[in-house]
Amino acid sequence: MEQRNIPAHVAIIMDGNGRWAKKRGLPRIFGHRAGVQAVEKIVSHASNLGVKYLSLFAFSTENWLRPEDEVSGLMTLLSEFVDKKFSDIIEKNIKFIVSGRLMELPDEPRSKVLKLIETSKNNTGMVLNLALNYGGRKEIVDAINKILDSGIKEIDEKIFSDFLYSPEVPDIDLLIRTSGEMRISNFMLWRLAYAELYFTKTLWPDFDEKEFDKAILDYQKRDRRFGMTDEQIKRGKI
Ligand code: FPP
Repeated sequence: MEQRNIPAHVAIIMDGNGRWAKKRGLPRIFGHRAGVQAVEKIVSHASNLGVKYLSLFAFSTENWLRPEDEVSGLMTLLSEFVDKKFSDIIEKNIKFIVSGRLMELPDEPRSKVLKLIETSKNNTGMVLNLALNYGGRKEIVDAINKILDSGIKEIDEKIFSDFLYSPEVPDIDLLIRTSGEMRISNFMLWRLAYAELYFTKTLWPDFDEKEFDKAILDYQKRDRRFGMTDEQIKRGKI
């Protein structure tokens, strides 16, 4: 793996927890629990590799439609994740942020998450961006409403992106989706514009450091042109 060509922003759609549990004859929540362990491994590994931003799709605005016990189970896992990883995140100099409508989350996970955001806000290492109660179209509509409220009459791409959730988060370089589905599923639509897409059949709970390295190696073989010609890229247009 080339150390100098590590994607700055890696985003992951962590899919397949339910199928992982089903294969073992277990309730779905066991798959999510195993999924959290994969999250822990990948956060630490990405930070060690020098990834600058890691965005993880943990809960979509549509996930509220899942059975009540699954939703409450996911919220409990979120609270436990924050409790368990709090000091580790601070120690690793990771800045923890959330993209999504955090105010609609239940009190307990919301207050734990807010405390970690506040405590880690001056950290200068990797930014861990957890997409919680996140929808890509909602993010765009929320941005437009904020722009209308601000009284700004004319925008360009730069101004628009300043109104997205967590505006410090740049465009995505590499999107990984596990479990064999080949969809974007309303994830970070604006920032995916020029992302390289990587799909693997591996279910999220089985996704580990080796699988992550495979995705990075694949990315490093890609030829990114951002709509330009090879010649322009060589002349250093970007
Ligand atoms: C998709 O699997 C996964 C989710 C909807 C949630 C992702 C959540 C986690 C990895 C655990 C929570 C994370 C944190 C950081 C607390 P699925 O249930 O759609 O799987 P399936 O398609 O096989 O049914």
